[in-house]
Amino acid sequence: MSVEDPSPPAAARPPGRLLARFVLLALVGVALAVGAVAAFGPVRVARPSAEVALPYTPEPKFAVEIRKPAGPPVFHTGIKDANGKSVTMACAECHKTREPNAANRLGRPMAFFHQALKGQHGNLACVACHNSTEANASLRLADGTSLPYTEVMQLCAQCHGPQYRSYQHGAHGGMAGYWDLSKGGRTRANCVDCHNPHAPKYQPVQPARATNDRGAAKETGHE
Ligand code: HEC
Ligand code: HEC
Ligand code: HEC
Ligand code: HEC
Repeated sequence: MSVEDPSPPAAARPPGRLLARFVLLALVGVALAVGAVAAFGPVRVARPSAEVALPYTPEPKFAVEIRKPAGPPVFHTGIKDANGKSVTMACAECHKTREPNAANRLGRPMAFFHQALKGQHGNLACVACHNSTEANASLRLADGTSLPYTEVMQLCAQCHGPQYRSYQHGAHGGMAGYWDLSKGGRTRANCVDCHNPHAPKYQPVQPARATNDRGAAKETGHE
């Protein structure tokens, strides 16, 4: 007797009926499978479209905060008072009585004052950014609009559109905090946190030594 056929001898069952039952069973099976695929199977593949909601779109619960400078800068005289505090002057103390000199520009030494101020920014004149008609208590946009110092980003954006757009969608300027605003807030640096407006070229950074954690200490032999 063969291994494939442990049933009673073939003579007990006519071979024709056995085959017919087998075929019937197979047909029912196929019909069931087709039905199942039609009902539950991968009939339609959803294509991503504008209407289809993303699988996970959390409600933004926290805000994005863009850091701003404190306000109008002050002039540091370099003199210390009796308490050791640095003596400062408002820009207007001198500039409300001074005729602005539009020829003064960065990258050229100042003749009478602000000699400590060194830098280079394209070939910009001081009055391209400072509002001399308001005694330098504000910044100035190209169309003459007065702009508070706190809104300096708008001044930078006026001349650096591509970088500003990159900043807006996050490719320039970095961030701290959360991408997912349902989990926590996000803080972003201002242009002037990274770029000195008088010398905006990003300064080269020295590569730092590897962190001195215990794993690294074992590898390098350092403490
Ligand atoms: C003690 C007086 C004094 C103070 C305070 C002072 N400045 Fe000036 N500033 C001057 C003088 C003088 C010049 C002209 C220098 C030159 O032409 O070489 C000048 C030039 C300038 C210019 C170039 C355009 C112009 O008007 O000639 C700008 C911009 C400027 N100052 C901005 C400021 C800002 C901003 C502050 C405050 C943070 C400030 N200054 C504080 C005296 C002052
Ligand atoms: C690209 C725009 C821009 C130009 C050009 C520019 N400034 Fe400024 N300046 C600023 C901004 C913005 C601040 C405020 C910085 C801050 O809030 O940290 C500032 C701050 C200052 C200050 C106070 C702080 C400090 O650094 O002493 C003085 C003084 C000053 N500017 C003078 C000048 C003079 C003089 C010139 C021309 C030689 C000039 N600036 C050119 C944008 C500019
Ligand atoms: C009135 C137009 C004007 C304004 C306002 C202005 N910039 Fe510029 N900036 C220029 C020009 C022009 C250059 C030089 C571009 C060049 O050399 O290709 C420049 C160059 C730069 C550079 C590249 C410097 C380098 O050498 O690689 C940086 C960074 C920069 N600006 C940042 C700023 C920031 C930050 C502000 C706002 C405080 C600002 N700019 C405001 C006109 C402007
Ligand atoms: C977190 C720091 C940071 C902030 C914030 C930031 N920048 Fe920059 N920016 C950089 C660095 C770093 C570079 C130099 C990139 C390089 O050398 O490839 C740069 C380069 C630039 C340049 C030179 C052109 C270039 O692509 O090399 C301009 C112009 C500029 N930034 C403008 C801006 C303006 C405008 C803002 C504000 C809207 C801003 N940046 C905010 C870090 C910053």
